Amino acid sequence: MKFGIIGLGYVGLATLCGLAKAGHEVIGVEKDQPRLLRLMSGDVPFHEPGMADVLRDYPGSITFTDSITDTESVDYLILAVGTPSKSDGSCDLTFVDAALSEVKSKQKIIIRSTVPPGTTDMLSIMYPAHTFAVVPEFLQEGRALADVLKPHRVVIGSDNLEMCEGLAGIYGRLGVPLVCTSPIDAEFIKYASNAFLATKISFINDLARLADKAGADITTIADGMGLDPRIGRAFLNAGLGYGGSCFPKDMHALLNVAHENELDLPVISAAMHSNDAQMGYVASKVEHKSGLKVAFLGLAFKPGTDDMRDAPSVTLAHHLALREIDIIGYDPLAKWDYPQAMTVEAALKGADVAILVTEWDELVNLKPEAFDGMRTKRLIDARNAWKYARDPGTVQYEGIGRMQNKANTPSSM
Ligand code: UDX
Repeated sequence: MKFGIIGLGYVGLATLCGLAKAGHEVIGVEKDQPRLLRLMSGDVPFHEPGMADVLRDYPGSITFTDSITDTESVDYLILAVGTPSKSDGSCDLTFVDAALSEVKSKQKIIIRSTVPPGTTDMLSIMYPAHTFAVVPEFLQEGRALADVLKPHRVVIGSDNLEMCEGLAGIYGRLGVPLVCTSPIDAEFIKYASNAFLATKISFINDLARLADKAGADITTIADGMGLDPRIGRAFLNAGLGYGGSCFPKDMHALLNVAHENELDLPVISAAMHSNDAQMGYVASKVEHKSGLKVAFLGLAFKPGTDDMRDAPSVTLAHHLALREIDIIGYDPLAKWDYPQAMTVEAALKGADVAILVTEWDELVNLKPEAFDGMRTKRLIDARNAWKYARDPGTVQYEGIGRMQNKANTPSSM
């Protein structure tokens, strides 16, 4: 089959690579010229495992262009353009609209961009020549291609039977559960899934603050809770809060849809409020002393990516910079606007406090001696991930919700 994909960010490029690997012909459309040129030369413009290999190994199946008209002969046209937040938190559909207004031939359109419930029904009315389906993506950065090739489930939302059957045939080959439903339900499933995961994180962060005060250990609490399959251990890691290109944006957009429908979503609002509070809470663990030097270990919003969109590191840095604290960061891949060291040693040299912000392997495995160059050997583990937490040597260790962090606390009975 032949697919066109408009928008080659994480979602578009991961989808393109997945389709090429599955034996399809794919035309990728990217309007950003520098990004297009990089892709044409086989260079992936962000850190994402496996994608460069696909571009190298399937050159005959993949074409890049900046022109939507080059996709006229495709069987399906996939829309994967960005849907950023507007200043009021609502979802900005400008790129979706701009792309569709350039599609002149009658097409079967698959909406892969995250769009608010009701959008595809509206697009079907605005662009009646095309047939539409929503197939939301659930991929996680750092494992985007793997998630496209083997997702937990595929959700197909369309009112058009032929489109549903065609897509069920294509995605059925993945051997994962398929949910075929209406466009609005498919759009809802995407927002609801992200909102639920983000809320789970805020729930455990709320309890982590309480555990700090009460003298309990949130990681043990999460482990104990997670053994109940109705709860599950995933997304119960307390720390600095969630960031990234999806959770913050989608929580705002969902709340906005609720307000348009004259409803409050108190759980979602509280989860967002808790996430903001969590970053302030971690900042409050650093003493109020101007001239203090703080080393950020990790900057990206999570390990395995160089993505800094809505990275908690930046919010935390703002909190500390307001107190005239000197900040230096280190990250194996990500870059930011604050001072940055090329090595962990350089970041830690002369620092008064180190904060483990992103749980990269190389950072969670730092031995206690790695902190010897600090002025005061103090580590705030904002991801509760440091491997030596129970045997920190001369490092003054503090996790989040782990005040009971005693070396001899049994981890299980
Ligand atoms: C997320 C969804 O998981 C994915 O399904 C959707 O398609 C896009 O958004 P991603 O943004 O790549 O994926 O990151 P994810 O791994 O979900 O983590 C999001 C944030 O939550 C990160 O900042 C991470 O550090 C944080 N997090 C995650 C926690 O604080 N605790 C956890 O237990 C899990």
